[in-house]
Amino acid sequence: MTINVITISGSLRKASFNTALMRALPALAPAGFRFFEAPSYGGMPVYNADVQAEGFPADVTDFADAIRKADAVVIVAPEYNWTIPGGLKNALDWVSRLDNQPFKDKPVAIQSVTGGAVGGARIQYHLRMALTFLCASVFGTPEVFVGLAHTKFAPGTLELKDEPTRKAVADQLAAFAVFAARHKA
Ligand SMILES: Cc1cc2nc3c(=O)[nH]c(=O)nc-3n(C[C@H](O)[C@H](O)[C@H](O)COP(=O)(O)O)c2cc1C
Repeated sequence: MTINVITISGSLRKASFNTALMRALPALAPAGFRFFEAPSYGGMPVYNADVQAEGFPADVTDFADAIRKADAVVIVAPEYNWTIPGGLKNALDWVSRLDNQPFKDKPVAIQSVTGGAVGGARIQYHLRMALTFLCASVFGTPEVFVGLAHTKFAPGTLELKDEPTRKAVADQLAAFAVFAARHKA
């Protein structure tokens, strides 16, 4: 079975470790997963119900449409101040106001990469809560926490070099494939 997976990075910066991990996923995934990246949410205005009343911005509807078309979602995000980066949370807040809210019943796996040692445990917990409110089907274990990012990726190329991390990611994707296939069937 082919499973179309949309990937979302929680970091907008060019040299993001999270985006680097997101881009490493296809090489670590089982056969049958087909990946595509979500359109950028970086241009969405800060959520404001008055703006919504004038019509949803195209960046919001494009982002939501892309998620709706996917069979499954992988979010790879850093932790900002122990929680969800504002830009990503803003995108979730926007799409949550749409009819046919795109995360409903969608299988979602979470990964996080941080500079610190903890690897994003707190952002994952908070993201899990928000996605549960959106009625997403949030994947449980195995979890992927990548701490001390500068030691795991090659300088410059940002290639994911660390073998234990590659294995942890591959193990999660293998289990997530079964989970997502069950949803699709
Ligand atoms: C605003 C801000 C807040 C941060 N807060 C945390 C934090 O709470 N926990 C953590 O482990 N790292 C934190 N960091 C460090 C990030 O983990 C680190 O910058 C990481 O590389 C960001 O991900 P990226 O490389 O994908 O952009 C923070 C960074 C920024 C810019």
